[in-house]
Amino acid sequence: MPTPVHSDSPRRDAPRAPQDASPGAPRSPSLWGAGFAEPMDATLAALSCSLGQDLPLADADLLASAAYARALGRCGVLVADEAARLASALEQMRADLASGEWRPGDAEDIHSAIESEVTRRVGEPGSRLHTGRSRNDQVATAFRIAVRERARELIDGVRALQSALVTRAEEEIDTLLPAYTHLQRAQPVRLAHWLLAHFWPLERDAARLAGARERANELPLGSGAATGNAFGVDRAWLARELGFARVTANSLDAVGDRDFAVEIVFACSLLGAHLSRLAEELVIWSSAEFGFVQWPDSLATGSSLMPNKKNPDLAELVRGRSAATIGDLVSLLALLKGLPAGYQRDLQEDKPPVWRATGAARSSVAAMTVAVERVTFDRARMTAALSDDLLATELADAMVERGVPFRQAHQVVSALSAEARAEGIGWRELLRRRPERTPAPLSPDESLRLDFRAAVERRGTVGGTARAAVLAQIDYARARLAEAP
Ligand code: ARG
Repeated sequence: MPTPVHSDSPRRDAPRAPQDASPGAPRSPSLWGAGFAEPMDATLAALSCSLGQDLPLADADLLASAAYARALGRCGVLVADEAARLASALEQMRADLASGEWRPGDAEDIHSAIESEVTRRVGEPGSRLHTGRSRNDQVATAFRIAVRERARELIDGVRALQSALVTRAEEEIDTLLPAYTHLQRAQPVRLAHWLLAHFWPLERDAARLAGARERANELPLGSGAATGNAFGVDRAWLARELGFARVTANSLDAVGDRDFAVEIVFACSLLGAHLSRLAEELVIWSSAEFGFVQWPDSLATGSSLMPNKKNPDLAELVRGRSAATIGDLVSLLALLKGLPAGYQRDLQEDKPPVWRATGAARSSVAAMTVAVERVTFDRARMTAALSDDLLATELADAMVERGVPFRQAHQVVSALSAEARAEGIGWRELLRRRPERTPAPLSPDESLRLDFRAAVERRGTVGGTARAAVLAQIDYARARLAEAP
């Protein structure tokens, strides 16, 4: 007895196909038609169907198809009136898709769904739309349109997060706290400087997204299945119509190139890593041990068991989600590395990683923006964490200023710090108790005068922690935000 074969269950993160789309089992005739004696086996049909994961391409494909219809009119494949009717039917379908009036279904993929629907709407000219075109150049075109749009949206999101960080930096210009290395207290720093330390990685992310967008913005349409377009469509005109900066130079490369997909997913991976580092720091800082950060109730969660808990789930989820994006990058690179030039069907697997990675980046950036805007920084806890050891470098530097070679000053202060540590007190307390331990040639007074604010002020070089240097950094950050990446 034949085993009934069911269609693939929808992919976890792929957009869900509408109810009337039955993945894997299109009922309409296949696109390659008459030469095949048997219908497609259900196992292959299930594997082959990409309609669910193609839905984010629908609008882009309609846009590109309408432009292609007009291009066919311009080169004489369609008479002017047919081309115009076909193009406006496709434009109407965009509106119907947006309003939910038309839902693609009953097709192997979005390209065939669109072609059969437009043919149903306008009749014969619909069956001429695919002249000279292949789904290979069609999918590459729609995918590039979708990727460049997602890059644009992500840049806007990253910009909003950067601007939240600069605003907080302005508010916290005079707040001091320890800077950590190896998660151990190191030297005093301005909270503004720490906030800006998370601004610059995002500046590089925005530039990477802009670069990915720029390189995606090349038109493959007119490359046909592999070797170009035999009907003389005007590719430069198509590029202008669709807002592409230029046309691709080689048809075989154009249909197999997915560098733009890898690039946007890489940009999302590194962005995810940066968000994850910021998230990690907010998680640590909101522990009772640090107490530097408090989450507003609206951005925290409780425990179903422990009534005392207030958890930083927002930051943990952002940190956790960035992992899958790294996996998406690896999936894409592995997908591509063995493929011959030109289109290979493996390439159908290129979309889910891009949708997932860009979707995760979008929601994580939005969540971190709200977090940066709304967490409370506990200035008193930060001040309380400024312990003597943070001034050990200052003490050594003060000896250097009085002529002691740095290496020697370091040894002396290191021994003094160890002694204080052993007694469970700070080195300043030790000097108060035993002034004779003051490192020569400093006086006890000179040593005890060293303070946190003076320490940050001494670092006035570009990129340092002096007030003026941090204010200049804020100005520079604002100027970068004003420029389009
Ligand atoms: N669904 C396909 C994809 O995403 C469209 C291109 C199909 N081309 C082909 N020769 N079967 O790659």
